Order: sequence, then C-alpha cells, then structure tokens
Amino acid sequence: MIPSFMTGLARSVGLSTVMRAAGVVTRLMPIPQPTMMVGPGASARLGQAINDFGHRKIFIVTDAIITKLGLMAPMIAALKAGGTDHVVFDAITPDAPIPVIEQGIEVFKAEGCDAIVAFGGGSVMDAAKAIGLCAANDKPPRQLVGYFRGLRGPAPIYAVPTTAGTGSEVTVAAVVSDPAHNRKLVIADTRIVPKMAALDPDLMVGLPPATTAATGMDALTHAIEAYIGHWGTAFTDRMALSAVGMIFENLPVAYDNGRDLAAREKMALASTYAGLAFTRANVGYVHAIAHQLGGLYHTPHGLANAIMLPHVLQFLRPAIQPQLAVLAVRARVGKAGEPEAELAQKFLDAIDAMNARLGIPRQLDALREEDVPALARAACREADTNYPVPRYMSEEVCEDVIRQALPKKGPARKAAVKKPLAAKKAPVRRRKAAESP
Ligand SMILES: NC(=O)c1ccc[n+]([C@@H]2O[C@H](COP(=O)([O-])OP(=O)(O)OC[C@H]3O[C@@H](n4cnc5c(N)ncnc54)[C@H](O)[C@@H]3O)[C@@H](O)[C@H]2O)c1
Ligand SMILES: [Fe+2]
Repeated sequence: MIPSFMTGLARSVGLSTVMRAAGVVTRLMPIPQPTMMVGPGASARLGQAINDFGHRKIFIVTDAIITKLGLMAPMIAALKAGGTDHVVFDAITPDAPIPVIEQGIEVFKAEGCDAIVAFGGGSVMDAAKAIGLCAANDKPPRQLVGYFRGLRGPAPIYAVPTTAGTGSEVTVAAVVSDPAHNRKLVIADTRIVPKMAALDPDLMVGLPPATTAATGMDALTHAIEAYIGHWGTAFTDRMALSAVGMIFENLPVAYDNGRDLAAREKMALASTYAGLAFTRANVGYVHAIAHQLGGLYHTPHGLANAIMLPHVLQFLRPAIQPQLAVLAVRARVGKAGEPEAELAQKFLDAIDAMNARLGIPRQLDALREEDVPALARAACREADTNYPVPRYMSEEVCEDVIRQALPKKGPARKAAVKKPLAAKKAPVRRRKAAESP
C-alpha cells in the first residue's frame, strides 16, 4: 500500500526504485520454457509425444465450443493410438471463473489423473494451470493467489493454445476470475509453465474475426508493455520487437481471411514471443485497467486492452518517445533515421489505424462514469504493486485516461476529454543506445 501523504513525485520515485530492485530479482529468476511444436498438425504430434511419457491418465481441460468444433480429434486419436487413457473436462467459461476451477479440481482428483492437457484459449489454459496447482497443494484457488503460494508444483501441464493470444502457454501466470467480487486475480508460479506446447494453425482457422482481432491486440499489448517497461532485457526486447513486427504484418491478414494458415501460424508464434517477453518483463497500465474492466463488466480481455492501449500510450509518451520510435520502425510504419518525434507519432497513429482496421471500437459501451473512480483506484493499486511502468499515474490522471473510453454520448465524457492527461513529473526510463532506431 502506498501511504496517501506521499507526494506524487515522491511516490513515483519511491515506486520506481522498488520496482527496479524487483526487476533485478526477476532477471535472476530462471523461468522454464516449454518444448514447442509448431505448424499444421502440431497438436497431434504433441499427443504422440505425450504417449512417450507414460502417464496413467490425462486430464484434458477445454471448453464446450472447442468440443463442439471437434478441434481435439487429431490429438485424442494420437493419445488413443499410443494407449494413453484420458478424460475430457470441457466446462471452462471465459475468464476462468473460480467455481468452475473448483469443479475441475474435484474431477481431476476423482479420475486419478497424473498429467494435464490445456486445450483452448487463455481462459482454458489458465484454468488448467490453476486446477493443477490447487490439486497438488490441496488448496482452493483463492489461497494460491499471488506469487509462489503453493508448496508443491502441479502434475505436468501440456498446452495447445487455440487463440493467439495470451501467450499463457509460456507464462508463469494463471488469471482467474472471482465472480463473487467482480474481480480478476493472478496466481503466479514458475512451476505452472507448461512442459510442452503445440502451436497448430489448423485449430485457429475457425476463430471468429472479432476474437481474432481482440486476442491479437492482447498479444500486441503484451509485446508493447514488456518493451516499454523497466524490466526489459536483451532477450525480452528481442522477443517483444519480433512480435510487434509479426503482428502488424499478419493480424490484418488473419482477420480478413481466417483460413490463411501462414498468417495464423505467424500470429501463434508472435503471441508466444510476446508471452516469453512479458512473463519476464511484465505488463503495465493497459493491463492494470483492462483487468478491472474484465472483472466488473466481463469485457473480453483483448478488447479491453485494445481500447485502452492508445489512451495509455498517449499518457506515457513523454517518457517513452525513443521506444515508440523503435516500435514504429519494427512495425514498418516508419524508417530508421526519421526524426524520433515523428516516428513516435507514426506508431501512435498506427495503433489507432490497426484498431479501426480490426473493427475495434474507441469506446467501451459498458463503461459508466460512476464506476470510474473505483476502477482507477484498483488499476493504480495493481500497477503500483506489480508493474515496472515507465511513468506513474495518479489516480486522478488514471480516471481521466479511463474516461477517454466512456461511451460517446455520456455527459461525463465531454467534460473529461477537456482535461489534459500530462502534467505529472515522473522518472523516464533510459534505453541502451543500440536500441535506438
Ligand atoms: N496467463 C497469462 O499469462 C494470460 C495472459 C493474458 C491474458 N490471460 C487471460 O486469458 C483470458 C482470455 O483468453 P483468450 O483471449 O484466449 O480468450 P478465451 O480463452 O476466453 O476465448 C474466447 C472465446 O473464443 C473461443 N475460442 C477459443 N479458441 C477458439 C477457436 N480456435 N475457434 C473458435 N472459438 C474459439 C472460446 O470458446 C471463447 O468463447 C483472460 O482471462 C485473460 O485475463 C492470461
Ligand atoms: Fe493480456
């Protein structure tokens, strides 16, 4: 908790120091990486590989839509051919609600399973991670919220993402939702990183355009927030910048033609690269705000990120102009050597253009003025205590940033947009010279 008597500047400097120190620890912490299988048919190859591990019974976690689409058939055929027993639990719903996870823990135990396959989007993968960790520690999900709260690691988890996406196949996080309190909670532990993952574009051809757009913008937000925060390393910067280039090139293609396997595969890879980056370098205010919108209004995670991204970047701009210029070059919306300020503006314009191209609205219909102060308070608390943001927001400024997304005709919006979002001194992150465009 940050004492209220601290001035904005003292708070910024204090938090910045604490978060930089945390960043040093994070860099020293080894985070495992799954063995990856990539390309059409990868999910069946994962099934074949799992056969060699001699598991007694696989707990396949998924959702009803994936079951209905028959997407698991090739992997299940491979498991059957190899004589590996399995049971399907397909009750997961968006945002991995705790009651559904609790149901999954019971079934996992009752069936005597000793490994887990997470087959679906981020909600499914996160639910599977939570089920595994809770079952291993005999604890309910709420007791494992936070960092390394369990004594034991889960049974081996294998992941098949069907969105691109969250990057959950490579991350230390399981985001779950608590419907009783309208909030999202994070369980973080390096032992819940899957052992193997299959990126199979065949599974993504039926992903509807709106979901393709929202999940792709989630991946883009991971890459951007990992790159502009304080905890970036040469590895995370490389992953994040590669993801940005790949997403700018392939997301509009996958959105227009879902059957384009090459674009789907590139998006799946980009989502994984962004996941590798942000699970080490973390995220920032876009996610801090999106998590509150998801908790309160059940706004799809990627959509909430996409709507907030331009407004947060606009606020951060004074602190991250060099990084925005690098991003513009990697997104191929500008050329190395152009003036930094022009490149930065080009990148901000490109984000707006990408959202428009993907049919993402500028405003969030569900957002209500009376909720804004509480949303801002919770977002600032989440960011202050977790994220290495390049510039700190007061709650008041955060309110104004959130108000940018109020539905157009709301009376509060007119007043809100007149307020400037700048005017707060905050530490600026220094980048290595090699990263300038
Ligand atoms: N663990 C992490 O590191 C991490 C990172 C970012 C987000 N998240 C969390 O992940 C969740 C969101 O995951 P998501 O964006 O992948 O969405 P999702 O998993 O909720 O899926 C969205 C919808 O798409 C459907 N769907 C999934 N794959 C499909 C396919 N191939 N074809 C047709 N329909 C398909 C699902 O059934 C669902 O209805 C949120 O709770 C978010 O907070 C976690
Ligand atoms: Fe995300």
